[in-house]
Amino acid sequence: MRLKALVLSGGKGTRLRPITHTSAKQLVPIANKPILFYGLEAIARCGIREVGIVVGETQAEIRAAVSDGKKWGIQVTYIPQSAPLGLAHAVKISEPFLKRDDFVMYLGDNLLRDGIESFVGEFKKKKPNALILLTKVAHPEQFGVAELSNGIVKRLEEKPKKPKSDMALVGVYMFDSNIFKAVKAIQPSGRGELEITDAIQYLIDKKFKVMPHTVSGWWKDTGRLEDLLEANGLVLMSAKSRNDGAVDAESDLEGTVIIEKGAKVSKSRIRGPAIIGERAEISNSYVGPNTSIYHDTRLKNCGIEHSIVLENSVIENVELIEGSLIGQNAVVRQSPAKPSAYRIMIGDSSRVEIP
Ligand code: TTP
Repeated sequence: MRLKALVLSGGKGTRLRPITHTSAKQLVPIANKPILFYGLEAIARCGIREVGIVVGETQAEIRAAVSDGKKWGIQVTYIPQSAPLGLAHAVKISEPFLKRDDFVMYLGDNLLRDGIESFVGEFKKKKPNALILLTKVAHPEQFGVAELSNGIVKRLEEKPKKPKSDMALVGVYMFDSNIFKAVKAIQPSGRGELEITDAIQYLIDKKFKVMPHTVSGWWKDTGRLEDLLEANGLVLMSAKSRNDGAVDAESDLEGTVIIEKGAKVSKSRIRGPAIIGERAEISNSYVGPNTSIYHDTRLKNCGIEHSIVLENSVIENVELIEGSLIGQNAVVRQSPAKPSAYRIMIGDSSRVEIP
């Protein structure tokens, strides 16, 4: 039996607006590499070759970034979803690609430190109808929660008021073809989506074998800004220092710092873990821990930490930016014009916090 993968890379991305007004959230770089690429690498490491990617409004951008998948030794089939009608809807429309084969379903905005090899290995060994990945969480009421008994999943509950366990569902699942019976039988939930938890509950109710697998290492769903920034820090923390750019004698690098090709750092202090992208220019500035500065960005006379700055942006004369995500081609700078005031032109659904 062949094993395939289904990567979900459509969705609305409402929690990451305004970034998602113009780009796919799965392509936001974490340590200067798109989130989605980490998932594709994890899938490729399991020896899976046939990968379907469900795409929505941002499909052109996803196709341009991933192409045919050869870079990872995989063969990609794109599956357009007419609207983000739910994770189970994404499975439903993917039947012509998945056929009767077993598959791993991977949410394209999720990140797992240890990949999915042991998860996929357990599915192959135990051959349940579904295997769900779980992790212990502090606030189970905010997640889909699994109730377990004797190594079997007894019940799933979406954001329960009184959780019966603290084991939450992580965005990776494995199914055999019985899942298609489930996604065809269920009805849209209150929010109008076909929910994967309802589909799995259907399997449980019909006495199919649904087993749990606990995550080792950390897991992050990067759908919210705070989690995205935390994931960036976690990935940077395990990176290795490298300097492929130019750092002048008046600059100081501390901890894990990656300087990419063509980047220039002058009169600056970089306190890792941090990464400076290709052709970026950092002058007279401080770049603090857990910060990723993407390609072609310019930082002058400023400080920044715990943040991600996307391509080709400019930050000038700003004392300290913290916990921020700055989009592509953005400008943040002090203005000499009088009166001294905040002058802002920001996109829809943006968030600005000022002291
Ligand atoms: P979510 O983060 O649950 O949903 P979303 O992308 O709509 O974001 P938000 O809640 O902020 O509006 O989706 C998880 C992953 O699955 C993500 O990579 C997008 C993808 N997805 C689809 O491909 N199709 C869908 O119908 C849905 C709901 C999500």
